[in-house]
Amino acid sequence: MNNVKIAPSILAADFSKLGADIRKAEESGADLIHFDIMDGHFVPNLTMGVDLVKAVRRYTDLPFDVHLMVTHPQDYIEPFANAGANLITIHAELATAPIDAVLWKIKSFNILAGLATCPQTPISAIDPYLPDLDLVLPMSVEPGFGGQKFILNTLEKISYLNQKIKELGKAIDIEVDGGINEDTAPLVIERGATILVAGTAIFKQSNYTSAISRLRQQG
Ligand code: DX5
Ligand code: ZN
Repeated sequence: MNNVKIAPSILAADFSKLGADIRKAEESGADLIHFDIMDGHFVPNLTMGVDLVKAVRRYTDLPFDVHLMVTHPQDYIEPFANAGANLITIHAELATAPIDAVLWKIKSFNILAGLATCPQTPISAIDPYLPDLDLVLPMSVEPGFGGQKFILNTLEKISYLNQKIKELGKAIDIEVDGGINEDTAPLVIERGATILVAGTAIFKQSNYTSAISRLRQQG
């Protein structure tokens, strides 16, 4: 048994009854709720925003894990903080503001700060920021859509991050997002992943409890 955390991505949930689906995910053993926020500019998809996070905040006390796949994340830190986010992750590919300034802004709201990389970005892009992070998120699919296939070279990125974090001696979560299922879960857990984001592998299953425990018991 491992103590990996499971973060269902509501991108795969039933948008017509998100509150109920989130509550069901909590009752089924979820540890956090993952929100894939996309602006149709940083990535081709347009998914959900601040008002949706605010609307579902009252359905659970689980931490809200907000993944900003947007071009100007610096403009949305305060609105998502006020909507109830507990953790906000921005992307290392950010080109519209200094990354360390945005990370500082997240932390100024007493919220955990994460930094994500797209699959084609060298994982060393995280290095300068690692000491200031609470979480790193090496994406294992192209950002934009759920239901994609896990990109295998993510595994060496997880191992790299695990080693760097051990050397640093700071508790920093490694969250893997995209194509996580009962086959890929053990591969990422054994390399040091501590949080698994899963949309399809949970919300597209009939029984969320068994889906979550299958992911958690791997590795
Ligand atoms: C991609 C999204 C997906 C989603 C999880 O931008 O971030 O990774 O959260 O999708 P599944 O679990 O369906 O692969
Ligand atoms: Zn995500």
